Amino acid sequence: MRAIVVRPGSPGVELAEIPGPEPEAGAVLVEGLALGICGTDREIVAGAYGWAPPGRDRLVLGHESLGRVREAPAASGLRAGDLVAGIVRRPDPVPCACCAAGRWDSCRNGRYTERGIKELDGFGAERWSVEPEFCVALPGELETVGVLLEPASIVAKAWAEIDALAARSCAPPRVALVTGAGPIGLLAALLSVQRGLETHVVDIVTGGPKPELVAALGATYHGHGLTRAAVDADVIVEATGVGQVAIDAITATGPGGIVCLTGVSPGGRSIPVDAGALNRELVLENVVVFGSVNAARRHYETAAGALARADHAWLEAMITRRVGLSELGAALERREDDVKTVVDLCRDGGDGAR
Ligand code: BGC
Repeated sequence: MRAIVVRPGSPGVELAEIPGPEPEAGAVLVEGLALGICGTDREIVAGAYGWAPPGRDRLVLGHESLGRVREAPAASGLRAGDLVAGIVRRPDPVPCACCAAGRWDSCRNGRYTERGIKELDGFGAERWSVEPEFCVALPGELETVGVLLEPASIVAKAWAEIDALAARSCAPPRVALVTGAGPIGLLAALLSVQRGLETHVVDIVTGGPKPELVAALGATYHGHGLTRAAVDADVIVEATGVGQVAIDAITATGPGGIVCLTGVSPGGRSIPVDAGALNRELVLENVVVFGSVNAARRHYETAAGALARADHAWLEAMITRRVGLSELGAALERREDDVKTVVDLCRDGGDGAR
């Protein structure tokens, strides 16, 4: 079968012929339908992130999955034909207190593994297998957009953590600001609107699909970056991973504000920060700043519910390019009006831009 293969640590990617998954007792065998491409995949392809499985130098790429069950153990509750996605992270072998409790997204010792990222082959293949407890079923009507489940799980976790932190406040949050109208930012805005918050999204473009996607949610789009006085937000979800934007987000909240950082940024760029003023503002205003990564099974389930409740035409509009497996290079390019690019694992030709 064909798979998207990288050598972590070295730039490059290839479509390689590799053996299909071995029939394993207790595993779910899945036919890959679609694979979402995100910034992490591009970093791995650039040789700047990612780890091959121990004793190997090649890794099958891909962690944003969608597939159809071919065979499943009876006890799994899954049946041939079901639409599924695979969970990315596996608990560390110790396991730490969080991994032991099914909260591998909050692993304490860093020895977790991740499909398509860290020491485990990913879902970028014509077929893959997965343990039933790491396989999430999706309603059949999500066939064209279910590939958004993994990024949606990231924001479902972020919002669950925000809710827990907001519970300490005297008044529930009313206004949310999301920085960045990429897939994570847009899905964060979707979940914000779904929980009834007045929602604002800032980005730095005024054209392309982003302003319309935000408006269609009933949220407000700001196309000139984050200006301090733009929005008086109780919650900020930072989804660009740009250092300066993260610092601006931290200083843009009011008293009792919550800032959730979700972007995994590359290091190596310094910016001047008045650390004393920043510290004073956070202290005097009881601001909470926290980072959020990955997702536990419960967040995938919440995300599946959120996608099912969303306008499916809106979710489809977020997928701005679908590319066939043989046009992998095009999938990895970043084009001006891209929001989410998806590789079609069971078709060779893509339908290009939508
Ligand atoms: C993935 C997460 C993963 C993180 C760090 C993100 O792109 O969506 O599942 O935990 O990268 O590797």
